[in-house]
Amino acid sequence: MEINSTSGPATKIEADWLIVGYGTIDSDEALPAPLSELDEALDGAVGRLVASGDLTGKLCEAHLLADVPGLAAGRLLLVGLGTSSELTSRKLEKALVSATRRVSKTAEVSAAIALPPLSCEAISDAGAASLAAMAMQVGCVGQALYRSEPARHAFSEATVVSSAEGAADAVHRGSVLGQAINLTRELVNRGAMEVFPESFADRAAAAATECGLECEILDENRLQEERMGSLLAVAQGSERPPRVVVLRHNGGGEEAPALAIVGKGVTFDSGGLSLKSNEGMKTMKCDMAGAATMLGAMTAIAQLGLPVNVIGLAGLVENMPDGNSFKLGDVLTARNGTTIEVLNTDAEGRLVLADVLAYAVDLGAERLIDLATLTGACVVALGEEVTGTFSNCPDWSQAVGDAAERAGELAWPMPMHGLFGDLIKSDVADIKNVGPRWGGAVTAAKFLEKFVDSTPWVHLDIAGPSFASSNKSHREGGGTGCMVRTLVAAAESLA
Ligand code: BES
Ligand code: MN
Ligand code: ZN
Repeated sequence: MEINSTSGPATKIEADWLIVGYGTIDSDEALPAPLSELDEALDGAVGRLVASGDLTGKLCEAHLLADVPGLAAGRLLLVGLGTSSELTSRKLEKALVSATRRVSKTAEVSAAIALPPLSCEAISDAGAASLAAMAMQVGCVGQALYRSEPARHAFSEATVVSSAEGAADAVHRGSVLGQAINLTRELVNRGAMEVFPESFADRAAAAATECGLECEILDENRLQEERMGSLLAVAQGSERPPRVVVLRHNGGGEEAPALAIVGKGVTFDSGGLSLKSNEGMKTMKCDMAGAATMLGAMTAIAQLGLPVNVIGLAGLVENMPDGNSFKLGDVLTARNGTTIEVLNTDAEGRLVLADVLAYAVDLGAERLIDLATLTGACVVALGEEVTGTFSNCPDWSQAVGDAAERAGELAWPMPMHGLFGDLIKSDVADIKNVGPRWGGAVTAAKFLEKFVDSTPWVHLDIAGPSFASSNKSHREGGGTGCMVRTLVAAAESLA
């Protein structure tokens, strides 16, 4: 869906739906813009709603007016944004995605979002226009990909109305980010019948061609040559052969340092021989969210033409029980020579990432970020909406944390004390692939640390926030596309 940008006025916008944001209203004072213009065009209808106490400007308050002969638009949806001094990009996003979701249920509808000048410290007017475009893209797409009657529809025409300086560029940026998030969400939401290592790799190659990324796909023979014994062991139990995807965006010139983004792409995690319960397995089509997030972010980085060098890698396998599965007690040799005793085949994500992280280091990455739906323990620690961050480098950790903050996403640093590393020492090999029950998110991160050398590295455990269990008015359930924007912001910070 393409999104246009215009500066208004809102009363003259021709669309089936005009969505207008407004801040808290002081009923003793004159109506603020843009409500004043709307009120005039509607013969005082807005003022009457304020007088009756129906319109206050509270965050996410919504009012629908279908009979609006004074406007060029067919229907009006008024959306409260709350007090401007308290507004944040997360609150604005909530309000605008909710509004978009309300009007995207019917096909062939045109819509516009009009935002007043916000005079808000936390978010610039151009930033708000960008968010509006992103909200439109994200709010028009749902998880019901397999319903015979589609539940949501792209707008036939979509417009953001903003008089901010640089609004057109901001709208373009928001639209690109929204589409990148939707690509990530779609890959997570499709079942493992459709999304398996080879089909994921094909999809990545197609996306790369579309947006001008270099793409290389490593098949099982090549992975053998590259000595990725740890990743290959996980893949052994599946009919579906593994793949590693390598994407490259060379926007920074030859001298610029390379950032590598590595995603866990377990296209289905049954647990392997350490089989999960039905309950635990139900949502495990989502276990490739790290790889899908990398892909979404890489398409945005390319489309925005960021002046940086970024390598995106996905480790793609399916984890299945089979006569040929890897087994408890097996000892694997990873690409960097580290030997690993397998004591739980359900701790497979770290085995996949081990080889891909080492490969990224060998490709010359000077900074690393990995993303993985790695541990249930991280969800226990931080809940379903906050990403855990783990790092070997305080400066890089701070930079990625700041990027999340700028992107309006929630991330929180976790400890990495040496004592957690002691918990994965093995009696028969260098390390074992599980520690004791407590501190499971940290021992998993300590495991990964063995494969990044001294490269500044941040691990993002997205097991909680990458997949939402239910639909809410402000966001669809299923894949969320979390951390796509953070990755783009982190890449931008290196420019
Ligand atoms: N993919 C899971 C982690 C996960 C759990 C993702 C819940 C999303 C939601 C991972 O491969 C896994 O199974 N981890 C185990 C590790 C354990 C065996 C040490 C876990 O968290 O239970
Ligand atoms: Mn697992
Ligand atoms: Zn997993």
